[in-house]
Amino acid sequence: MRGIILSGGSGTRLSPLTKITSKQLLPVYNRPMIYYPLNTLIQAGIKEILIIIAPERAGDYLNLLGSGKDLGIKLSYEIQDRPEGIAQAFIIGQNFIDGEDVALILGDNIFEDNLSSEIQNFQSGAKIFAKKVKDPSRFGVVKFDHQGRAEKIIEKPSTYLSDYAVTGLYLYDSRVLEIAQKIKPSPRGELEITDINNWYLQQGELQVSPISGEWLDAGTFDSLFQAQELAKKKLINNMLI
Ligand code: G1P
Repeated sequence: MRGIILSGGSGTRLSPLTKITSKQLLPVYNRPMIYYPLNTLIQAGIKEILIIIAPERAGDYLNLLGSGKDLGIKLSYEIQDRPEGIAQAFIIGQNFIDGEDVALILGDNIFEDNLSSEIQNFQSGAKIFAKKVKDPSRFGVVKFDHQGRAEKIIEKPSTYLSDYAVTGLYLYDSRVLEIAQKIKPSPRGELEITDINNWYLQQGELQVSPISGEWLDAGTFDSLFQAQELAKKKLINNMLI
């Protein structure tokens, strides 16, 4: 399985911090933010990782992570010229994916859990991870039926659907590229990862796994602050990098 970290965007919600570097390189306690999602992939034994970055910040990533050799992995880089959606990662990364299964993780997502067995046991279709949150309207939200099966997923629902957010770690088989090429941009001008997940859901091939540990999308001042505390209290001892 190949890994992709999507680390693009301009991080305007964290301005002025993001005027000087990329959101995903901001400090989360004693490490740059991207180390946490990178650690999630490395823990799972993924050794070939593509980092997709915004053009303005490419140099910062190369300075920090380089070839990946020091970390025992092989890193590649691609540019996302404009923030045109998470699902665009598969189109940008198509040569890198090269027909393999892929684990995509967002560069601002921090997981407490070690998800390596979930990642290593992936076989086909799609697998995503859900977490109960207080502010579901900030996220993709998944509604479960009475048997606990995923029924529908809506991106940032304007009316209440459920408390379960779809986190930013996604596992797909190689069909994901074809699906990403087929979907159309949403009204916010993005190729939505939620559309990919709904495609697999309609085929009956989407697995939604609830996670028990803490999870944060560190893209706001408050969640960045919480991420610092999580890192200090619980994550530092489990970091391989
Ligand atoms: C994105 C996805 C959303 C997901 C979230 C996780 O939101 O679109 O479905 O729940 O990441 O962090 P965005 O970062 O675009 O607001």
